[in-house]
Amino acid sequence: MPLVSTRQLLDEAAKGGYGVGAFNVNDMEQIQAIMEAAKETNSPVIIQASRGARAFAQDNYLYHLMLAAAELYPQIPLAMHLDHGNSFETCESAIKLGFTSVMMDGSLKPDGKTPATFAENVEVTKRVADYAHERGISVEGEIGVLGGIEDGHGAGGSGLEHVTDPDQAVEFAELTGVDSLAIAIGTSHGAYKFTKKPDGSVLKMDLLIAIHKRLPKTHLVMHGSSSVPKDLQDIINQYGGKLKETWGVPVEEIQLGIKNGVRKVNVDTDNRLAITGAIRKVFVESPEKFDPRDYMKPARAAMQKVVATRMVQFGQAGHAGDYTAISIADMAKGYADGTLSTKPLVAAK
Ligand code: G3H
Ligand code: 13P
Ligand code: ZN
Repeated sequence: MPLVSTRQLLDEAAKGGYGVGAFNVNDMEQIQAIMEAAKETNSPVIIQASRGARAFAQDNYLYHLMLAAAELYPQIPLAMHLDHGNSFETCESAIKLGFTSVMMDGSLKPDGKTPATFAENVEVTKRVADYAHERGISVEGEIGVLGGIEDGHGAGGSGLEHVTDPDQAVEFAELTGVDSLAIAIGTSHGAYKFTKKPDGSVLKMDLLIAIHKRLPKTHLVMHGSSSVPKDLQDIINQYGGKLKETWGVPVEEIQLGIKNGVRKVNVDTDNRLAITGAIRKVFVESPEKFDPRDYMKPARAAMQKVVATRMVQFGQAGHAGDYTAISIADMAKGYADGTLSTKPLVAAK
């Protein structure tokens, strides 16, 4: 099937009451791992690329790899998403290339580090939403700021510094018309999210539930949703790595989020851990090997295993055949004639 819009994937996920994993990629093997996991579990899926990924792989390679994925797996609804766009221009270039959804992360200024004001965030996000919707492309906005830094992107600090205010979330959704809303509830990007298994003092699931109560039909997005499993940490350290003890977001908390409006779940770090552990193992156990396939194959298989496991845990498994793709041109018509609503349903406090 052709690349589909993330809005369609998330609307379907809301109907089915499940979440959809959005997995980051930088290269062909990661795309292959995700598509094989989607096939294995019969899952719709979002593949996303950050600015860093676009720079690493180059846009044309990425886009054509995604087209190959869509061609090779016609049974899988597949969306291609820009992760953490930092400006109107970044989103515009992704849309021109063929991404079917973009995130305008206006929670930070274009430097990708400094928290922006609410007014700045609304202004740039609405501009992107208007431009994207005219072209049938879906938009994710972010209100509140995540912690941590990935590849130079992020405000740094703990995830608790700028958690989302539910009233601002409502105002932001009303003013921008985004299709989905990323919220900050104490998570951060990367492996070092929590120093012990997180409880409600650091992972604010109560806040997520409060936002969902005010915006019951809005598709919420959880960033920084890697679980950083101990077994993946252990493999890396067993084969010469030096990861410090750390905790991620427990899968049962993500599942609680999914019961409360979370429809898109962003995962990158768990896959990075799986790949690195598998490669380290080959390097240590078979130092005589030098054919990249000898370590890229197990790396790809390790990532496939993580992704397939998450697809089952998020509930998207089994749902690939539920619907057929709405064309991007028809999505544009839907935004224009109002059948695709961009006005959030707001519940009283
Ligand atoms: O936003 C965080 C994702 O893990 C992407 O990371 O910017 O290093 O590609 P990146
Ligand atoms: P993790 O670092 O927890 O995998 O988060 C990825 C993410 O949020 C990408 O936008
Ligand atoms: Zn993110």
